[in-house]
Amino acid sequence: MCGIVGAVAQRDVADILLTGLQRLEYRGYDSAGLAVQASQGQVQRLRRLGKVEALAEALAQTPIQGGTGIAHTRWATHGQPSEANAHPHQSGPIMVVHNGIIENHSELRQQLQQQGFEFQSQTDTEVIAHLIASFRQQGHALLQAVMATRKQLTGAYGMVVMDEQSPEQLVVARSGSPLVIGAGIGEHFIASDQLALLPVTQRFAFLEEGDVALIERRSYQVFDSQDQVVERPLVESTVEHDAGDKGQFRHYMLKEIYEQPQAIANTLEGRLENGQLNLEALGDLSQVEQVQIIACGTSYHAAMTARYWIESLAGVPCNVEIASEFRYRRSVVRPSSLLVTISQSGETADTLAALRLAKDIGYQQTLAICNVPGSSLVRESDMALMTRAGAEIGVASTKAFTTQLVALMLLTVALGRGRQLSTEQEKDIAAALAHLPALIEKSLAMNSDIEALAQRFAEKHHALFLGRGSQYPIAMEGALKLKEISYIHAEAYAAGELKHGPLALIDAEMPIVVVAPNNELVEKLKSNIEEVRARGGELFIFADEAAGLNTEGNVMVLPVVHCDNRIAPIVYTIPLQLLSYHVAVIKGTDVDQPRNLAKSVTVE
Ligand code: AGP
Repeated sequence: MCGIVGAVAQRDVADILLTGLQRLEYRGYDSAGLAVQASQGQVQRLRRLGKVEALAEALAQTPIQGGTGIAHTRWATHGQPSEANAHPHQSGPIMVVHNGIIENHSELRQQLQQQGFEFQSQTDTEVIAHLIASFRQQGHALLQAVMATRKQLTGAYGMVVMDEQSPEQLVVARSGSPLVIGAGIGEHFIASDQLALLPVTQRFAFLEEGDVALIERRSYQVFDSQDQVVERPLVESTVEHDAGDKGQFRHYMLKEIYEQPQAIANTLEGRLENGQLNLEALGDLSQVEQVQIIACGTSYHAAMTARYWIESLAGVPCNVEIASEFRYRRSVVRPSSLLVTISQSGETADTLAALRLAKDIGYQQTLAICNVPGSSLVRESDMALMTRAGAEIGVASTKAFTTQLVALMLLTVALGRGRQLSTEQEKDIAAALAHLPALIEKSLAMNSDIEALAQRFAEKHHALFLGRGSQYPIAMEGALKLKEISYIHAEAYAAGELKHGPLALIDAEMPIVVVAPNNELVEKLKSNIEEVRARGGELFIFADEAAGLNTEGNVMVLPVVHCDNRIAPIVYTIPLQLLSYHVAVIKGTDVDQPRNLAKSVTVE
């Protein structure tokens, strides 16, 4: 989704803005632009279609000096990717960058055109610039003009406004799309997330829904949705290390795959000590009679896995739904239900809307499983279980997923206590979790074998992924990873479902990836594998050697480290991540920023 950076400083800010944009590239975008204002001077704007690199080259040729500026990476919603549609958008002295969607833009456009404003782009954002300009023409100061403008807007926005006639000031507004203020010494910054500003500050204030703020060099002032002054205190950043660095790795995705042992260990820290699970932070869940989980994409796959755990281990009924479906249907709230949302970013528009709806329709207890402290989802939920994966930059989620699964296993134990989960079982789960970082290390050692195997996928147009039980969502996640970064069409099926249709797809051209731990379903899975073998499909099976799979024919079995079946979904995720990564590298796609995708989907 769109990325925003702004700065009010005594020094030149063009490079700070550019670095900020580069650090937001992971969010996904198709064009980039900036505008800088010299003190008392004119505003200069530069925009380019394509990568931030193209903007950097343009800036190198035409350096812009000045201490106040705004910048933006655009992920097209209204209007095709083009230089004319790139931000900042201008109306006379007003420049605006915006993340979100203005739903009533058509009617506002008509009104503004009738007033004589001329539109230069097809975007919804341009109406904001003209509206602010019209209030300025009526004599409002910049801050008041933004406050008046937002009352006319329907939809979601994070916006930053610069005015040639108010140098050394930025006005920002948040409704639906997050913004953070960064504080330096005698300078202030604004961005869509902290990562953009880590090179210039570690101190941040988080704007809340409905906030408007006036940002100046030495101060910032925040007003709530009623235009009343409110405190949004500065806090030290909790981002432990500067994740905007690929280190020795070629891609963020690979770096993040390799960070999983540490990310899991961090997620367990303080929650697993001396073989004991410490789950007090989750509070008393003994009254919970049903769990409803809501999430999108990869986080939804984590939810699907958890459903198997929560029902079979804790004995609590669990329902899972995609957020964009939940939010638009009338669902029944069962008494004493726990509403769980899962999100890496904590800013996914559909998940946030689903949480808000859930509260409106009567869910009394809400828990967010999330990776970003201070995110909207965390702030709006009653409880939060943080995943501590560290910043995830690659659009394809990896370490966020496995740490979500760890958090969900902790939730399962918390729910199971006092119910059907015995002390013995809890001890076994604790031991398995303690061993998990080492098992992930061992799984990462499959890397070179998987790299070799990836060659066999590079020319394929389709692939099937199969799993059973709690491995079915892992097959779904494997298929999603392959789709999103290698652009190979991939589908996952619960292996028992093959005979009900998908078997028709099997021929010698169809690669079929199977996840096969040695669990209670392995004999059933073997029969499904035979159904594929009999039809000449090309099988790639990630399996526990003890499962004793038949290796005859067009079959490649890749041994996966033996592990406790309860945590096997986490372990079997690793080879699938590596497979999609290497296929994408061979295909030469943009691994970290796959086409058409955004890291955090903050619009509907
Ligand atoms: C995962 O690889 C995806 N890029 C995507 O499905 C993602 O998981 C989804 O958009 C949900 O994001 P969230 O976890 O930040 O809410």
